Amino acid sequence: MRKVNQNRHKSARLTLYNHKGGVGKTTLVINIAAALGSLGKRVLLVDTDPQCNLTSYLVESDVVDNWLDNSDTDEGVTIWSALKPFIEGTGGVKNIKVSERLDNVFLLPGDIRLSEFEQELNQIWVECLQRKPRGFKGASAISEIVNNIATKEKIDYIFYDVGPNIGPLNRVILLDCDYFIVPAACDLFSVRALKTLGRSLYDWIKEWQIISLLAPDNTLLLPGKPEYIGYILQRFRMYSESIASQYAAYATKLEKSTYSDIVEVLRKIDKDLAKGTPSQHKLGQVKDFASLAPLSQTQGVPFFAVDGGSADQKAQAVEEFISIANKIISATE
Ligand SMILES: Nc1ncnc2c1ncn2[C@@H]1O[C@H](COP(=O)(O)OP(=O)(O)OP(=O)(O)O)[C@@H](O)[C@H]1O
Ligand SMILES: [Mg+2]
Repeated sequence: MRKVNQNRHKSARLTLYNHKGGVGKTTLVINIAAALGSLGKRVLLVDTDPQCNLTSYLVESDVVDNWLDNSDTDEGVTIWSALKPFIEGTGGVKNIKVSERLDNVFLLPGDIRLSEFEQELNQIWVECLQRKPRGFKGASAISEIVNNIATKEKIDYIFYDVGPNIGPLNRVILLDCDYFIVPAACDLFSVRALKTLGRSLYDWIKEWQIISLLAPDNTLLLPGKPEYIGYILQRFRMYSESIASQYAAYATKLEKSTYSDIVEVLRKIDKDLAKGTPSQHKLGQVKDFASLAPLSQTQGVPFFAVDGGSADQKAQAVEEFISIANKIISATE
C-alpha cells in the first residue's frame, strides 16, 4: 500500500510564495502570524530562506550570530541543525525545541547552510525518480522536522517563509504545503512574474504525481497538493489621486492574471487546487506603511506593536491583518 505521511499533524501548512524578490513575503508572514496569534491560534514560523531574514527580524542579532556559529554542533537549534544528521548520513532528522517569539508565535530559526541542503536536493530528486528510499526521506526531511514540532507544540498554523526563487528547496516546501498565497506588488514585473509562478507550480505538482506513482510501497510521501487560496496586494500606495488610480489599474491586471496564470493552470490538474471566485481570492490589500516598516524591523515586532509611529497607521495595520487572518481561517477550515 502506498501512503502519504499518516502521522501528519492536523495543523494547516501554508506559504506566501512569489519567486519575485522583495514583494513583502517576510513582512506579511510576521504580521499575519501575529494577527493569528492574537486570535488565539498557535503559529509556527519556519524560516526556510537561507537569507534568514525572518529569523533576523524576530531575534536579536547577537543571538542569531550565536545560533549560526553553533548550528553545526550537538547544541544547534536551527533548521540546519535538525537536518544535519540526515545529510551526513549519521541518522534521521533531529528534534529541535522552538521558542515563542511573539504571543502564540513560535520560530524554527533559519540557517545560511540551508543552501547546502538545497544543492543536495537536486540529487534527492533524482533518487526519487530512481525509486530510492533515501530520495523520499530527503524530500520529506523538512516536513518531518516541522511535523515533530507541530505535534509537540500543538500548532494550528505553520508558515514557511521562503526565499525568492524557483529552486529545489522551494519545490519540496510547496509540495509539503496544504495551501499557498501569492503576495504581489502593484507593478508590471509582478504581473509578468505570475506566468512563471503558475507554470512552475504546475510542473512541480505534475512531476510529483508521477514520482508518487513510482514510489515503492509504504513510502512516506509529501502530499503534493498545495491549494491556492488567494493573493495579497502589497505596498498599495494611495498618497495622491493619480498614484492611486495607477495602482488600481495594476490591481485589476493582477486580479485577471492571478486567475488566468494560476487558477486556470492549476485547475487543469485538479479543480480542488484552486477553489473559489476571483473576489474570494483577494485576501487583502496592504498599504504602504512607510516608516512603520523599518521601525517594526528594528524592534522585531509586527506593525501594530511598534513603539512610536502613527497611531492611525497602527490601527489600520490591526484592521487589515486581522481581516487577512480571518480570511485565512475560513479558507483553511
Ligand atoms: N506594507 C509595507 N509598507 C512599507 N514597507 C514594506 C511593507 N511591506 C514590506 N515593506 C518593506 O519592503 C522591503 C521588502 O520586504 P520583505 O523583506 O518582507 O520582502 P520579501 O518578499 O520577504 O523579500 P525577499 O524576496 O528578499 O525574501 C522591506 O524593507 C520591508 O520593510
Ligand atoms: Mg523574505
